[in-house]
Amino acid sequence: MKPSLILLLFLFSALVSGFLLYFIFYVHRLNKTLQRFQEGDTDAALPSSSLPVLSSLSSRQAILTETIRDLQNMEKLQQGMLALEKKERTQLVEEKTLAQQLEHQLEETRQANQRIFILNRDLEEINTSLNEAINRLSALHQISRMLGMEHDKKQIFRMALSLPAELLQAEIGHLFLFDKGTGEMNLEYSLGLPAAQTLSRRNTRETSPLAGWVAANKKPLLIPDFRLQDTFSPNCEMGYERKTSLTVPIMIRDELIGIISLVNRKNGQPFSDNEKTLLATIASETAMAINNALLLEKIQKNYFSTIESLIMVVESKDMYTRGHSERVTRYSLLIAEQMGLSLDQMEIVQRAAILHDIGKITVELSILNKPTALEDSEYDQIKLHPLIGYRILEPLDFDERIKLSVLQHHERPDGKGYPKGLREEEILLEAKILTVADTFDAMTSARPYRAAINIEDSLREMENNAGTQLDSEIVKILCKIIRSTTSYGTGLMVG
Ligand SMILES: [Fe+2]
Repeated sequence: MKPSLILLLFLFSALVSGFLLYFIFYVHRLNKTLQRFQEGDTDAALPSSSLPVLSSLSSRQAILTETIRDLQNMEKLQQGMLALEKKERTQLVEEKTLAQQLEHQLEETRQANQRIFILNRDLEEINTSLNEAINRLSALHQISRMLGMEHDKKQIFRMALSLPAELLQAEIGHLFLFDKGTGEMNLEYSLGLPAAQTLSRRNTRETSPLAGWVAANKKPLLIPDFRLQDTFSPNCEMGYERKTSLTVPIMIRDELIGIISLVNRKNGQPFSDNEKTLLATIASETAMAINNALLLEKIQKNYFSTIESLIMVVESKDMYTRGHSERVTRYSLLIAEQMGLSLDQMEIVQRAAILHDIGKITVELSILNKPTALEDSEYDQIKLHPLIGYRILEPLDFDERIKLSVLQHHERPDGKGYPKGLREEEILLEAKILTVADTFDAMTSARPYRAAINIEDSLREMENNAGTQLDSEIVKILCKIIRSTTSYGTGLMVG
């Protein structure tokens, strides 16, 4: 190799090496400056040639830093979002669980409600049954109490029918009594029918097939709907149509006393099995009261017959008053009938007329038959007989008006009668009738101290005393009756 070439190569190598060294130095200085610059030394001197580069680098670094910060923020956001999502997912799970629990609870509540509904319905049914039982017990108690307090036969019959009829809302009711003597079933009392229709059948044999069946079988008969059976006709002999009926026997042990029959309901509904049991119970409660009333009536009749016999004995000893009570009864009933008195009043008049002089049983016969005028003391004894009669009858279970009529049959409208000196308005109508009838018979009958006064004179004398000694209206009626009688003085007179 030529020395020139070698020299040239050496120079070239030297040049390259120099250049490299400069570059390294330059980069090192630049890095230093940049480092100071980043550390805030803005006064760091940079080579002018490096400024554009530095500016570009700084700008990029700022962008990079910003980007990194954004990225970091985004990462934080993402992490936040992930946390939020996780939280939401957890909440969703919790909500779902809660919803399931709620649904479960709802189902339980629904089932509980259903059970409550069923229980409530059962309770209502129990309440209804209890109310019905209470009502029935109350009705039974009321019926027993009322029947226990009542002694009047007619009132007992009325209550025995009307109380159950009202309780079971029956339109029509019948009470039949069994007549042991004839073996027949008699209609004693009815309700829900016109009075005339009922009265015409009272105390007559009733041929009701329902009552006949119950009497024969001695057990209740319930027909809920007459259309659904053909054993019994729906057409009643009393002129009404049966739709539903309930008939029960009134029994004391095995003995038939009577029958209660309820027909048709006010609300159109049929009678029920429960009501059949109820009516049968009422009938058994009623049985003893009815039986007692019938026994009492029998005792009273016997007692009344005894008193009638006593009166006959008294009258038989007094030849002048023989048949007096019977005639007074006849006149009294004629007057009462003419005045249009009720059957009850007629019965009172009749009994009072028979009994009116029963008090004379204690008056000495010598006084009753004395042919001369009575001494004051004797007359005082006579004047006691209405009061004694009242006291004889007082313990008896007669209508009070019978006893009072006996007590008042010598009272006068002007207040001058005896024993109490009552005035017109204080005297019972039945007693006034009795007084007129008694006076008429006394005048037209012979007395120990005078002969019988003829009828027309008697009537005139009574007319003269009308308004003072006797009730003027009743005297008019008696005069009319007697004077209008064709067999004047004979047909009406007895003895
Ligand atoms: Fe008298």
